[in-house]
Amino acid sequence: MDNEYSKSGLNFPLLPVPKGNLTIPAVQDINAIAGLQSSIAPKLSFSLIIPTYNEGQNVPKIVNQLTKLLDEVLPGDYELILVDDNSPDETWKIAQELIPSYPQLQVMRRIEERGLSTAVIRGWQAARGEILGVIDADLQHPPEILLKLLAEIQRGADLAVASRHVEGGGVSDWSIIRRILSRGAQTLGLLILPGVIGRVTDPMSGYFLLRRSCLEGKTLSPIGYKILIETLGRGDVRWIGEVGYVFQERQEGESKVTSKQYVEYLQHLVRLRFARWPIARFFRFGMVGFSGVFIDMGIFYLLRNLGGLGLTRSGIISSELAIISNFLWNDLWTFRDISRRQPGKRKMLIRLLKFNLVCLAGLVLHILILNLLYNFLGMNQYLAKLIAIIIVTFWNFWINLKLSWRVTEIRND
Ligand code: GDD
Ligand code: MN
Repeated sequence: MDNEYSKSGLNFPLLPVPKGNLTIPAVQDINAIAGLQSSIAPKLSFSLIIPTYNEGQNVPKIVNQLTKLLDEVLPGDYELILVDDNSPDETWKIAQELIPSYPQLQVMRRIEERGLSTAVIRGWQAARGEILGVIDADLQHPPEILLKLLAEIQRGADLAVASRHVEGGGVSDWSIIRRILSRGAQTLGLLILPGVIGRVTDPMSGYFLLRRSCLEGKTLSPIGYKILIETLGRGDVRWIGEVGYVFQERQEGESKVTSKQYVEYLQHLVRLRFARWPIARFFRFGMVGFSGVFIDMGIFYLLRNLGGLGLTRSGIISSELAIISNFLWNDLWTFRDISRRQPGKRKMLIRLLKFNLVCLAGLVLHILILNLLYNFLGMNQYLAKLIAIIIVTFWNFWINLKLSWRVTEIRND
């Protein structure tokens, strides 16, 4: 156990680092996760995590300011959990020495693990609060904003985010490069994960509070810095409140952000994209699409050979009948849970029309891709055809998910 009690000579024990998956426990289970025998930990209203790496100069100030603030509004009913990744400047020791003066302060020293987001989650795993929060240690996030964030949660919000991009928000002195990079990252996020990134004005914010119940029992697996995106991507967050704040200039120490964080951000987006991709529903959609190929080929054969119909007419009739069959199976099976909530013939007909339009647009896209790959890129015609089929299957699935069955909230079913 990472307990430096004896070694550091300081007689205030550090908080044990939870082990295993990054699953957020209910308050009554936190001791078990930390491998402690003792009884159930008493609940608190609020637990605020302060992730630190080489923040020795900032820690006394931030702990002092936060304590003054929270002693006013939540006397004895909150905890500050500082999670340090074994900083070379021994931030953990500086914090440990503060514990006698700040009874609400707890310090966790991670030796094997490293990274801002996972540090926050390890803190949340050990936290006893019904409301969980995170704030940077370098005073770039003004502590007084916490009161407004708490008020948002008390008003009923599941998540309260301090944002630089709403009224009263901004950054004090950022270079044009950093502004472009930050906005660029946000735009990229909107392309890959619109349903997550689009829910808040400042998805890159590292300053927010949330109800523990939004993450209880969820297993998180972030990469890098973006703990808010992970929370939105895997949590049950319904109502979101935002509070404007000005991101301050750092007084002491330096930012740990390097190009590595930008690569990790991209990896994180892709990981969440796949985690949130409704695999089972997509599999059913694929099966139905596959059955449609047989319907299409079978009817085409019958019309051509028994019906003696012309090529184009047979092709159009067989494709249309395959589209109708696909629609019926998708409505009855793939999207059963949604079509049941949109009962009646009329609504079903509208879904069929939309499905038809999307599939026809898919057909046009198919022809375009085929010609692009074969005629312009000189690709083998069968490989070009296969790639066109794969791309159009994703297109048909995604657009029908968004349009024909209007699934706004996508979940792995
Ligand atoms: N435990 C731990 N482990 N803490 C870390 C680590 C780490 O590997 N890396 C950074 N931290 C801590 C820092 O010590 C600081 O308290 C906080 O995380 C933020 O780190 P900075 O390096 O100061 O980040 P920034 O100011 O450039 O960016 C911040 O603001 C951005 C805009 O809101 C972060 O909050 C970003 O997430 C946010 O996007
Ligand atoms: Mn900072």
